[in-house]
Amino acid sequence: MSSDSVKVAVRVRPFNQREKNANSKLVISMRGNATTITNPQNGETKTFAFDHSYWSHDGFKENETGVYIKEKESYADQRQVYNDLGQGVLDNAWQGYNAALFAYGQTGSGKSYSMVGYGPNKGIVPITCDELFKAIDKNTDKKKQMQVTFSMLEIYNEQVRDLLTPAKQQQKGGLKVRQHPKSGFYVDGLKSVPVRSYNEIERLMDQGTLSRTTAATNMNATSSRSHMVITIRFKQLYMNELGESTTKTSEVSLVDLAGSERADSTGAEGDRLKEGAAINQSLSTLGNVISALADLAMGKKKVMVPYRDSVLTKLLQSALGGNSRTIMIAALSPAAINYDETLSTLRYADRAKKIQNKAVINESPTERLIRELKEENNKLLAMLKAQGTGVKAVVKTEELERLLQENERQMQEAQLSWEQRLEEARKEWEKSHAQELHPEDLTWQHFPYLRNVNEDPHLSGVVKYALQNKEYVIGKPGNGVSIELHGLGIQPHHAVMCNTGQKVLIRPAVQQAKLLVNGVPLQKERTLTHLDRIMLGSSSLFLYVGFPSERAQHENLEQYDFEFFQTEFAEESGFHTNSLLTPREGHHDPNEDKSAMMMVLHEYMNLLPKIEEAKVMSQEMQKGVSFEPEVKNLAAHDEVGRDMKKEVIVKVTNEKTKQVWVWSKAKFINRKFLIEDMYTKWCNGESIAIDRHHDPFWDPVEDVFLGSCHLWLQSLAYKIETNDQLDIIDHHGREEAMIHIKMLPCDHTGKVLSDDSLVLDPAELIGHPLDFVFVIDHCMGVKWVRGNNLARGVYCGFRFFGQPDLITTKTMWGNSNAKFHFKKHFSIEKVTPEFHDYLQTHAIIIELWGTQVDPDSGSASSRPSSGSLADHTDEDPEVAELRRVLKRQTEECDHLRAAYQKAKKENFKLKQQVERHKNALELQKLDHQETIPHPVNSRVAHLQRDQHGGSHDSINSNSSTGSSHEPPPPKHPSTSLDAEIAKGLKVFFKDVRHVQRGLKNVKELGTTNSSADNGNVKSLFEEQQKALHDIDEQLNAAVSALKVTVTSVIKKKKQQTDPS
Ligand SMILES: Nc1ncnc2c1ncn2[C@@H]1O[C@H](COP(=O)(O)OP(=O)(O)O)[C@@H](O)[C@H]1O
Ligand SMILES: [Mg+2]
Repeated sequence: MSSDSVKVAVRVRPFNQREKNANSKLVISMRGNATTITNPQNGETKTFAFDHSYWSHDGFKENETGVYIKEKESYADQRQVYNDLGQGVLDNAWQGYNAALFAYGQTGSGKSYSMVGYGPNKGIVPITCDELFKAIDKNTDKKKQMQVTFSMLEIYNEQVRDLLTPAKQQQKGGLKVRQHPKSGFYVDGLKSVPVRSYNEIERLMDQGTLSRTTAATNMNATSSRSHMVITIRFKQLYMNELGESTTKTSEVSLVDLAGSERADSTGAEGDRLKEGAAINQSLSTLGNVISALADLAMGKKKVMVPYRDSVLTKLLQSALGGNSRTIMIAALSPAAINYDETLSTLRYADRAKKIQNKAVINESPTERLIRELKEENNKLLAMLKAQGTGVKAVVKTEELERLLQENERQMQEAQLSWEQRLEEARKEWEKSHAQELHPEDLTWQHFPYLRNVNEDPHLSGVVKYALQNKEYVIGKPGNGVSIELHGLGIQPHHAVMCNTGQKVLIRPAVQQAKLLVNGVPLQKERTLTHLDRIMLGSSSLFLYVGFPSERAQHENLEQYDFEFFQTEFAEESGFHTNSLLTPREGHHDPNEDKSAMMMVLHEYMNLLPKIEEAKVMSQEMQKGVSFEPEVKNLAAHDEVGRDMKKEVIVKVTNEKTKQVWVWSKAKFINRKFLIEDMYTKWCNGESIAIDRHHDPFWDPVEDVFLGSCHLWLQSLAYKIETNDQLDIIDHHGREEAMIHIKMLPCDHTGKVLSDDSLVLDPAELIGHPLDFVFVIDHCMGVKWVRGNNLARGVYCGFRFFGQPDLITTKTMWGNSNAKFHFKKHFSIEKVTPEFHDYLQTHAIIIELWGTQVDPDSGSASSRPSSGSLADHTDEDPEVAELRRVLKRQTEECDHLRAAYQKAKKENFKLKQQVERHKNALELQKLDHQETIPHPVNSRVAHLQRDQHGGSHDSINSNSSTGSSHEPPPPKHPSTSLDAEIAKGLKVFFKDVRHVQRGLKNVKELGTTNSSADNGNVKSLFEEQQKALHDIDEQLNAAVSALKVTVTSVIKKKKQQTDPS
């Protein structure tokens, strides 16, 4: 008996295309057996030592047969990995040890590449099998017999599926895992196919991969959530020195684990259903088992190893901490974007290397084996007889009978001649796979064909449907269907394809069938061109490969991968690059921007197919909930408007009640797992009835962020009043509503100050009090309450100077013109330098929130900020109804009051207009004298003499359009200075027109490029980005120039009026 630690290797893959496009930073380095990871944010490093650290990131090239070969000494190729790890497994098997090898890492990190390999770059599993048979073939000892059996299974959602059993013969709910008192856990009914050559294993592996690809539910992401376990049993029968017939057995388990990634746990923590989501029971239990075993190895006492908590750990019990020599290969992504995941993989691997196993050679005389089995059998039979009749006894009897069966199977296996078993297996293969799609079917070489594309590159190109000269109906298995698909959103008859001999045609079979060719929905028949991309439903993707005459010699079909399809789909369905732009571009590092853009683009693309799937699952299960991706612009919530970060969020709509929720990406991913589980159940015909508190489609109603605007505080620093109408912009950059806001400097009693209180240098404020009244008057044209929907309301919220509480207006229900008449007096006792800076650089963000009534409880949705606001969610429906009535009444009153105010104002305005008209005429006269055209619409700055005859001039700055508060024009304009200002304004307006043209061009960039090819979204971004950057600079320059003019005029004026 020997005690061995689990051997651990890590391997880092090359950058993929997307990472190259994004100019990803490399965060992994290796020296000898040590691997170092660098935190891209702060440069901190962490180093881990392993048995092997494999550098497969660069330093290689592809030879003419497609094999990656070393260019630099540092590069570790497939052969090297096999020599270090696979060879050891094989040696162990010969000696009669059990062995296990598993690959751990996030999806796309290279697990399958190391384990199984791609094309000519064969991985550990095929090389090991190949070498095993090479060694067997070398055996010349006639008395020695060697037997190999092969099995392949998948664990998905705690269900075991035999990948070598044809789909039609598979048991619903999967195979059961049972425990045998002597041999431990086993899968009841799993096929273990005797094989005599490597070719046969290869054929079985192809069959298993095909079975994985066409798995019943056919969601693209299934493979990343499932574990694949291949078991090779190697038995050697020979005479030992005593002349006894001896059996030496070894079981080799090769495990390609599910992707280790999780929904970002910080984000999903807020989810009501976070606890309910055992996203991958087997994977999390594996982590717990490894931790417990590591603790045991470190000398900790009384540690419970939770093998029984999951299917995977039951099956791997002996590989982990038992009778096995075990190797773990941890696959690493090199890119900065995956830093967190990669670090967690390294930590996992670090823990695993502490585990100690006790491997023994499984060798015993064959007769003894049979004798023991017989004895065991007799014991079982005796126990069976002794069983009573109670309920407990019946269960026990069933279990005993099963054990008996298993024993008998083992005995039969031991006694049946190997040749007989092989012959049986051959017959069965022919019988069960007669009507199945054969991986070795080569008709596609002579005809146009469809080639499947899966999210997992390992499952792409596995299914090929040759299109011979006839018509094909594609659809759900059933009547008249020639190409059967199980995918999401597939109609019973979905599409019809026809090969006329000269060309191949495709059309949707029914109107509601979702059929896209090259990202464009297809309504009528069209001819396919070689390498067209076809999407059926939401997850069945195919590449059309044309007639042999159309194909080029070395075509790289792999480039049309899942990502290619999704990018194309996103582009064609109008992925708004505009929505990724920031409302106000500050000064920033353009490089930082680019990576932020790529990041969000990547997230968006990643989420899009998942959202599509969730949508269809909801449709099929008639949940009536739809999902839509959105990009959240953090600048919309950033008081300095410079946060360039964007987040992808998911808008969820109940189609019946029209309620809306906004889910974070993490929450969506969490829910998607639960939805998938529910869908799997539904597909298996199980009940999906669930109380709504556990329903992943349901949430209590909540308020929805509609949009925001920035009200810059700078004018307050000059004690200039603001009276503006601003656009409320949603996350897509679209206008949600228009808001009328005022910010009026006042005295401590709240009396609004006149213009002479203006300060020329904001620094003068320091040390003095500052008071102002903040008014949110009304919002116009709110889209959320379109059609004056009575079940919806709006309110505004904002924060001031870092105060934690959101200050909110009252909620206005059922009116798209919401009259808040909100007024608040802010009183700052003493302006500090800090506050002075705050005024100069910050804005108040006014957020518009939508609120909605929950039809079930009748109460309103809850406001997102806790604390100051009452939460009405648990209110009695009757009270809620009364409250709504009261609200409407109050509103009616408001309405009347407002109408009265309006009439009063109008009257006043008319008076003003008359006066203004008079003054304008006067001004025109003066302009003619100066021969400088007076700028039209000069709403940026008015210079005016103080009306009260004081000694100061004041500036009134209105930075936005449509200001209703126009100051009276100057009575005694100082002509030469006015001319100077006018000149400055003229230049400014010229610049602004220039900027406007620029902006128009940017807008057009997005629309004229609709025919963009794949990958153009990115270049479009960059173009827009650059254009916006330029515009920003132009604007800044224009504003500074104007500022200089205005300041100089003010100074001069001051000198004129103040002769001292
Ligand atoms: N060592 C490597 N050398 C070259 N390409 C690799 C390597 N490891 C992974 N890849 C590529 O990266 C992609 C994802 O790898 P894969 O093994 O499918 O990841 P996983 O199984 O972990 O999801 C595949 O296209 C694969 O060819
Ligand atoms: Mg894989």
